[in-house]
Amino acid sequence: MQIYRSSLLRFADDGQALYDEDGLLAVAPDDRGQQRVVAAGSWQALQAQFTGQPGAEVTHLPGRILAPGFIDLHIHYPQTDVIGAPAAGLLPWLEKYTFPHESAFCERAHADNVAEFFLDELQRNGVTTALAFATSHPGSVDALMGASQARGMRMITGKVLQDRHSPDGVRDQTEQSLIDTETLIQRWHGVDRLGYAITPRFAPTSTHEQLRGAGELAARYADVWIQSHVAENLDEVRWVAELFPKARSYLSVYDDFGLMRERAVYAHCIHLDDEDRALMRERSTAAAVSPTSNLFLGSGFFDFARADAAQFLYGLASDVGGGMSFSPFRTMQAAYVAGREGQTKQGLSLSPGNLWWQHTAGAARALGLAGQVGNLQPGCEADFVVINPACTPLLERKTRQAESLDELLFAMIILGDDRLIERTVVSQAK
Ligand code: GUN
Ligand code: ZN
Repeated sequence: MQIYRSSLLRFADDGQALYDEDGLLAVAPDDRGQQRVVAAGSWQALQAQFTGQPGAEVTHLPGRILAPGFIDLHIHYPQTDVIGAPAAGLLPWLEKYTFPHESAFCERAHADNVAEFFLDELQRNGVTTALAFATSHPGSVDALMGASQARGMRMITGKVLQDRHSPDGVRDQTEQSLIDTETLIQRWHGVDRLGYAITPRFAPTSTHEQLRGAGELAARYADVWIQSHVAENLDEVRWVAELFPKARSYLSVYDDFGLMRERAVYAHCIHLDDEDRALMRERSTAAAVSPTSNLFLGSGFFDFARADAAQFLYGLASDVGGGMSFSPFRTMQAAYVAGREGQTKQGLSLSPGNLWWQHTAGAARALGLAGQVGNLQPGCEADFVVINPACTPLLERKTRQAESLDELLFAMIILGDDRLIERTVVSQAK
């Protein structure tokens, strides 16, 4: 059993942040060799019970904070090299930068190379689980799944479905795309810590037949995830209305094809109406809120207040390469700024504990993985980060001055980046 003594951040079932200044985290392998949290809480309360056990090894990390590994609810690994590509908005950005970059993933060696860099970058930034887009090339899924498996990481990804309105090099064939999806589900879903996501890019780039086939697979493989984009940009919303004139709304296109259910995660969800929000809740479908991407592409602002009023699931995501950073701190900072009440805009000023929850335990709940990842309560897989709150002179000064948990977390959210993450520990099954 491995025992850590340091400050400890975790979350109660209701989402409240729990903090032990002098904390204890005990980790041990289960009967499958998966490292899990055995105990978490105050050193004073737990040390007598756990440090005396045979084989207990204590690691003391003074001045450090152990916290759950972050979960990125929506990211594109093939867009690692697209970050910072300027364009007038979503649709020209896709055409000019994204599709040309993604077409290079027909080469397996290129996919392998980017997958390794991508996972290094996730881990450097403290991200231990992601729901990631691959490209339309099946080999791009094999590359990311294989690389994640080798590191013992929990990763969910899928082959992009896009059989129309897409250039040569990324466009796939309707029938073959569905055969490839099923083959990949059978090859990877549930293997070690890997999961498959059925991945229609977005409604404009799939034919009705492809969406129908995706919905059939989603019904047949009920514990597989679904990921796509919805209501990100006004030009996109108008285009969908032209392509699907019978649909009540953009979101309802997905519902009409059986693509809204538990374990379905839609990026953005900006331009929704209240009927859409009610549908999100009814279907237990989640939104991946991607504020750095929405600010970069000028798409708009996720409405946290209306989402809460409708009580649907959501969590935070980087959406790299539309997103501006791999760092969960940059994403939480942007979520705060994009969401907050201001003098020219209504909004919701999110608390630091809630922002952090949305990128960890809240994101796990959105994925249907509550109690497995995104938290450090007993039974959770032991994916965690070691944070050094004194990693820069200003952070050292601000975090030392903090007089409450809110002040401590806010200092890190507003000033932090990859430098805060001293170590990322992934709970590899042996
Ligand atoms: N909509 C369809 N494809 C994409 C994509 O790659 N990124 C973003 N941000 N939106 C999309
Ligand atoms: Zn995206």
